[in-house]
Amino acid sequence: MITTVPVTLGTAGAGRARGYDVLVGEGASAELSRLVATGVPAARQVAVVTDAVVAAMPWFEGIRPGLPFEVHVVEPGERSKTMANVEALCRAFARGGLARSDAVVAVGGGVVSDLAGFAAATYHRGVPYCTVATTLLCQVDAAIGGKTGVNLPEGKNLVGAFWQPFGVLCDTELLETLPARERASGLGEVAKYTFLGEPDLPGLALDDQVARCVARKASLVAEDEREAGRRVLLNYGHTLAHALEASALGRAARGEGGGGDGLSHGEGSGGDGLSHGEAVAVGLVYAALLARRLGRIGDERVELHREVVERLGLSARLPAGLSGSGRRELLSYMARDKKAAHDLAFVLDGPSGVELVHGVSPEDALGALEELACT
Ligand SMILES: NC(=O)c1ccc[n+]([C@@H]2O[C@H](COP(=O)([O-])OP(=O)(O)OC[C@H]3O[C@@H](n4cnc5c(N)ncnc54)[C@H](O)[C@@H]3O)[C@@H](O)[C@H]2O)c1
Ligand SMILES: [Zn+2]
Repeated sequence: MITTVPVTLGTAGAGRARGYDVLVGEGASAELSRLVATGVPAARQVAVVTDAVVAAMPWFEGIRPGLPFEVHVVEPGERSKTMANVEALCRAFARGGLARSDAVVAVGGGVVSDLAGFAAATYHRGVPYCTVATTLLCQVDAAIGGKTGVNLPEGKNLVGAFWQPFGVLCDTELLETLPARERASGLGEVAKYTFLGEPDLPGLALDDQVARCVARKASLVAEDEREAGRRVLLNYGHTLAHALEASALGRAARGEGGGGDGLSHGEGSGGDGLSHGEAVAVGLVYAALLARRLGRIGDERVELHREVVERLGLSARLPAGLSGSGRRELLSYMARDKKAAHDLAFVLDGPSGVELVHGVSPEDALGALEELACT
């Protein structure tokens, strides 16, 4: 069964609605040609953007946009989210004669949807695009909400645009080929949504989990398309997760082992062997411990965080062997988090649900890390 989840957005000039539908379920990718025909009726051709792993999947041949198309293949993984690839794609679009009235179709995970979406946002000052999301993380998170972008050597996602797709297809059948670590990465985000108003998620079937997560992200995006307010809640569990990823990359860059070269921690690895979603799972339990220290929640709520993470098959443990100086390094990365502005800020659970809390003391942040390290 295919579930349609509408993403409602404000109107563009002349009152044109900018919302779109996300189709979720087994076989949803078969709707691609209909989506292109209705979403971009003037299109005469399509540029399909994917990565080499996805292009080699047995199901890839079945993904048909219903118009003449050219397939553009990038290397898999985070290292492909570069300005150089944006230029390469736009040049290839131009050589293929892709017009402003044509369309880009991203087929892949978050890397492909971020990259192809950003290329679409800038080519001809913006051409329509849609995403066939093929990882769990992309289905429940990256493909929804219109944030597109690439990395710079100086940092992740530093260049980008808000550019909404004309539709998203979340075909859960395509997830059957997804490696277990990539699935775990998506489940970290599912754990996050459990605390953003979807308490029943861990007990649901995969299709329903995806549909509920999409609906929850859609409602937060609809409230706050450009992240001026409530959209920040989507960062629940991410402050420590980003710090774990950044510190693992820092160690790797210093030749101390870990995540690999520069920003290439895509391919499911947030460094120290943790995928992004696995790092989020640790970050959720950490956020619960911190909220308890601040008197915002009690023991039961902390236990619930652990339970949810475990029910989804994830772990709440910090990477083994993290020393006192390693914990202080994590704290310094958390202080640089973009939500923080000038202080330590966290999205934290509390009596009125999850909210952004500024002015957390370094002692409390470090104390909660030590608590987490001891469990
Ligand atoms: N724009 C947003 O709002 C947003 C939100 C969250 C994450 N992101 C971005 O998403 C990216 C991570 O996305 P991701 O976790 O999907 O990683 P990814 O796109 O790198 O995909 C992970 C791996 O799975 C492979 N793969 C994809 N689909 C497959 C399938 N069905 N079967 C087998 N293999 C498959 C890919 O080739 C890749 O090697 C990051 O760059 C992150 O910044 C963006
Ligand atoms: Zn995330």
